[in-house]
Amino acid sequence: MPAILRAAGVDNTIPFLREAYTFISRRCDGLGSDLFSTRIMLTPVVCMRGADAAQFFYDGGRFTRQGAMPQTVLRLLQDKGSIQGLDGAAHRARKAMFMSLMSPDRISHVAELLERHWHVAVAQWASRPEVTLLPEIGHILSRTACDWVGVPLTERQAPAMSRELQAMIRGAGQIGPGTLHALTLRRRTERRMRRLVRDVRAGRVQAEGDSPLATIARHRDIDGAALTDATAAVEIINLLRPMVAVNRFITFAALALHQHPAWRRRLAGDEGWLEPFVQEVRRFYPFFPVIGGRALMGCDWGGHHFAAGDWVILDLYGTNHDRRLWEEPEQFQPERFKDWPGHPYTFIPQGAGDFMTGHRCPGEWITIALIKRAVRLLCGMRYEVPPQDLSISLSEMPAAPRSGLVISQVCAAE
Ligand code: HEM
Repeated sequence: MPAILRAAGVDNTIPFLREAYTFISRRCDGLGSDLFSTRIMLTPVVCMRGADAAQFFYDGGRFTRQGAMPQTVLRLLQDKGSIQGLDGAAHRARKAMFMSLMSPDRISHVAELLERHWHVAVAQWASRPEVTLLPEIGHILSRTACDWVGVPLTERQAPAMSRELQAMIRGAGQIGPGTLHALTLRRRTERRMRRLVRDVRAGRVQAEGDSPLATIARHRDIDGAALTDATAAVEIINLLRPMVAVNRFITFAALALHQHPAWRRRLAGDEGWLEPFVQEVRRFYPFFPVIGGRALMGCDWGGHHFAAGDWVILDLYGTNHDRRLWEEPEQFQPERFKDWPGHPYTFIPQGAGDFMTGHRCPGEWITIALIKRAVRLLCGMRYEVPPQDLSISLSEMPAAPRSGLVISQVCAAE
């Protein structure tokens, strides 16, 4: 078996943090290989990209997420006991519970809730000189997510909840005081959610029969045991936090409408372009850069033998920008998704493979529905985009337009 190519440098932690979204692709291009080995945090790791790599990584239960992410990222994004840390039959049972929440009715309900909260917010935006979309859409999504999941939220609690959920997302890509602050805020949200689960189970709070809150509170794992209060709280946050994170995709969609104004007219003239536009937003703009795993068993791919325990990082952003899979990948071209038949391994902003048996994101349909509705609402609004720094740094995780996308002179309806 030929030896795997090694990236230059003894340890690539600093280049990885500095280059972030482009770290793996640059080296794959330079070495002419879809996989290479290096060290990150002094630990040997195999980095890989492309559709075949995604299939190898996601299918067959070969890789666990346990021990595959730095502790701070794990604490902020998933945490102990969460679905992402499960494997095999235990994972499939928990995943079935998540997927049961993703019915067409429930997904159209989430878009309705977004619209309701959007209108309330926009009425206030109209009286303000300027509005920064990234955090403001986060506030709208925080209310939307709480309503959808069934988490009671008073007017007084709403700003803190939004702040805590948005901090978890921001903090996950940082190292330093921001991360510690985010962890402190997360602990507050966890305490509140644990109390809520206890109240629902004791009948002190009524959760609607088929709401996500009620479903999680009564779910039984493969061993027949109910989730502990702590795990149930973690899984509730696993719905709330990523729903709020959709604010990044919606902000990117607003940026695309601003930088490609022809699309605003096209979308107004033909609703059939909405889905291709939204899919291109999810492909083109940077969000989840990579995903890590550790081999659960000995396995071979790309001429390399992975031993059980080996650490691997799959390039999600690089695969979405792989020029062998996407023509002119650095161009924003929604046309590429018109009549696109779908593919489980080439378009992987939210993971690859099968929803039920692998770790692919269960929230993908909700994400699409939320962005679609937001794009429609943005197209129905009039506003100005004053001069500002709209650049997106591919070195910062999670990425966003530097200014957060400021708008002014908002007028709710055309
Ligand atoms: C898993 C990204 C939205 C809930 C994942 C994974 C990615 C991802 C890349 C795969 C992780 C892996 O392979 O281990 C995103 C992005 C989103 C988003 C970029 C856009 C904001 C959502 C939403 C929900 C959600 C809206 C819930 C409503 C989850 C859960 C998992 C997951 C529970 C773990 C699944 C498992 O381990 O089987 N997400 N996600 N995500 N996502 Fe999302």
